[in-house]
Amino acid sequence: MNLVNIGEKRVFVADCDDLCSQVADEVEALLRGGEEVVLGLATGSTPLPLYAELIRRHREEGLSFAKVTSFNLDEYEGIGRDNYRSYWAEMWENLFSHVDIDPEKVHVPPSHFENAEVAAAEYEARIREAGGIDWQLLGIGRDGHVGFNEPGSDGETRTRRVDLADETREDAAPTFGGLEYVPTHAMTMGVGTILEANRIVLIARGAGKKEIVVEALTGDVGPHVPASYLRGHQNVGWFLDYAAAGIDA
Ligand code: F6R
Repeated sequence: MNLVNIGEKRVFVADCDDLCSQVADEVEALLRGGEEVVLGLATGSTPLPLYAELIRRHREEGLSFAKVTSFNLDEYEGIGRDNYRSYWAEMWENLFSHVDIDPEKVHVPPSHFENAEVAAAEYEARIREAGGIDWQLLGIGRDGHVGFNEPGSDGETRTRRVDLADETREDAAPTFGGLEYVPTHAMTMGVGTILEANRIVLIARGAGKKEIVVEALTGDVGPHVPASYLRGHQNVGWFLDYAAAGIDA
């Protein structure tokens, strides 16, 4: 694990195993602290090795999720929880089914709703009722999105219904078996919602993320790169693999 500077921020750079183990240590410290813990969780490919490591620690080392309340960042609109492409299903498949989390304490934004504003406000209210997010995990999109806060999302945005950017839909096309099957909308926590977490951990893996990570860390802060707003938060850990950091291993 190396600590390097990109712009004014210190970032952790390591191979995938070391990164995940370091981030898993943070989660483990919280979970073993004895208090109720509110985790903000992400889907996509980035967190999968982390989730695998957390499952291993649960199975082999007794790491318990009994005191965890979770809030996922986002969900596609219009696909049911029984559809394996939904983020609800993805979370159960890759983490929740394998640990002792209380299903009642799992929250993922709704994919179906009558009134988007009401549904979004309810999600925000649940986060507040849980006492706010202690620890928020993020990946980053190639266009700089966090959650599904696409370019144009400013730092004050709250949970809401959003249009998905073309690039985001193209990235999801293989999973959906073609661009025409990728939902056009989603429900996402806002950048402002994310920034209220006590601790934020962003993981980026792969050369495809290098350009946007550098932009987020060194370019202008603004809605053109929603991830850039993280630089205004006091407690963000940036965890990059060598490829995403543009450093030879
Ligand atoms: C997923 C999410 C997205 C992803 C981002 C990166 O819940 O909020 O912002 O983190 O699109 O996706 P992957 O990890 O698949 O590269």
